[in-house]
Amino acid sequence: MYFEHNGVRLAYTLRGSGLPILLVHAFPLAGAMWAAQMNMLESHYQVLIPDLRGFGQSSVPPTPSTMPLMADDLHRLLVHLNLKKVVVVGLSMGGYIAFELLRRYPRGVHALVLAATRATPDPPEAQAARETNAQIAETQGAAAIAELMLPRLLAPDADPEVVAQVREMILATAPAGIAAALRGMAVRADATDLLPHIRVPTLLIGGEQDLLTSPAVMQDLQKAIDGSSLTLVPRAGHLPNLEQAEVFNTALLKFLHRL
Ligand code: MLT
Repeated sequence: MYFEHNGVRLAYTLRGSGLPILLVHAFPLAGAMWAAQMNMLESHYQVLIPDLRGFGQSSVPPTPSTMPLMADDLHRLLVHLNLKKVVVVGLSMGGYIAFELLRRYPRGVHALVLAATRATPDPPEAQAARETNAQIAETQGAAAIAELMLPRLLAPDADPEVVAQVREMILATAPAGIAAALRGMAVRADATDLLPHIRVPTLLIGGEQDLLTSPAVMQDLQKAIDGSSLTLVPRAGHLPNLEQAEVFNTALLKFLHRL
């Protein structure tokens, strides 16, 4: 399905019925990364999985895909679908967007699942690296980004099928979409001020072997969010929902059942 606003076309999948769950994907992937979660959740919940602007089947806007713009896209989609309150599940960049939803539309967030993400902004050297990578995407294409990112995204002994699936998703992404999101993430706001004010049930999930968002980062988040709980997934890197789908799904389902 597609939803269009202000010249942006967002692709999304909506299935099932019950408490609505919004799953927000990581960079530089697409809604398809949540296939195993959709399969598990759709018989119990209403599941909404968008492709963020610049990714999957959504259109590629010419301007940086900032976190506020992507959060606004999702808010408009939720309004369009008449979903007033949702459980927001965000992984990595999806988590940055979840923080922005929480900042801008707190009444629409019923509960939070933050996976492999951080509240802190990019330091200057990370911002510079994002710009370098944006230019690599623009000049050399998505394949160059896949080669740069794959070794850092997944645990060293990741299932070859998962590696292939992630590579395929990156290769299918428009280079301009990759560059736009890199430039958007580089200027994202510090979300640490939000953490002490989070009052909704919150689950944190990290990969024990995540090189990008270490277990220590997830433990710090857990300490900062009152009442939150943390599941660290063994033998998983930055994409625990794909690398260890069963463990991820069990933690997610347990949390959702309690809401
Ligand atoms: C992601 O998985 O979404 C990215 O690693 C986020 C980032 O580059 O900060």
